[in-house]
Amino acid sequence: MTPSLSLIHVRQLFLVLVFTLIQFQPSRSNDLVDSVCVHNEDPAYCAQILNSDGRTPGADLLLLGAIAIDQDLVVATNVSNLIIWKNNTATDPTIKKGLGVCEVLYDVAKDNLVNASDALAGRNIGTMNTQAQLAYKNGMDCDAVFYGLDSPIKVDNRHFIDLTHAIVVISNMLSEH
Ligand SMILES: *[C@@H]1O[C@H](CO)[C@@H](O)[C@H](O)[C@H]1NC(C)=O
Ligand SMILES: *[C@@H]1O[C@H](CO)[C@@H](O)[C@H](O)[C@H]1NC(C)=O
Ligand SMILES: *[C@@H]1O[C@H](CO)[C@@H](O)[C@H](O)[C@H]1NC(C)=O
Repeated sequence: MTPSLSLIHVRQLFLVLVFTLIQFQPSRSNDLVDSVCVHNEDPAYCAQILNSDGRTPGADLLLLGAIAIDQDLVVATNVSNLIIWKNNTATDPTIKKGLGVCEVLYDVAKDNLVNASDALAGRNIGTMNTQAQLAYKNGMDCDAVFYGLDSPIKVDNRHFIDLTHAIVVISNMLSEH
C-alpha cells in the first residue's frame, strides 16, 4: 500500500510548518549589540540602552553607531540636568566646585558627540573616533574630579563613560571594515 496524504493531512502539515516558522523567527535582537558590548565594563547596561532603541533590531554597524550617539546625547543631557539639580542641594564647597568642573566638561562632551554624529553621517570614521575618544576622556575627567569624594553623579557619569566607550568600539569596528 502506497502511503498517500489526504488533502486534510496536507493542510495540517502546512499549518504545523507555519507555526514552526513563526516560532523560530529570529528574535528581535541584534547580534552586533553583543559584539560591541562585550568590550564594555558594564555589558548589561550597554546592551540595555542600545536595545532600548526601536531601530536597533535591524541596524547595521553604521546605524548602531548613530543610535549609540543619539542615546549618549540623551544620557549626557540627563547628567547635565543632574549636575544642576545636585548642585542646588549640595552644601560641601568641594562638591559644588567639582560639579562646576563637570558642567563644563559635559558641555564639551556634548559638542564632541554632535561632532561625532556629523562625522559618522559623512562617513568620516576617523573623526568620529577622535571625537568619541575626547567625549570619553571628558567623562573620565569628570569622574576623577571626585576622586576620594562621594560623587553625587557617580552612577550616571559611569553610564555616560560606558556608552561613550561603546561608540569608540563601534568606530574602531567600522574602521576595520
Ligand atoms: C533621561 O532622563 C529621563 C528623565 O529622568 C529618563 O526617563 C530617561 O530614562 C533618561 N534616559 C537615559 C538614557 O538615561
Ligand atoms: C552651583 O551653585 C552655586 C551657588 O550655590 C553657583 O554659584 C554655581 O554656578 C552652581 N554651579 C552649577 C554647575 O550649577
Ligand atoms: C567640533 O567640530 C568643530 C568643527 O570642526 C570644531 O571647531 C570644534 O572644536 C569641535 N568641538 C569639539 C568639542 O571638539
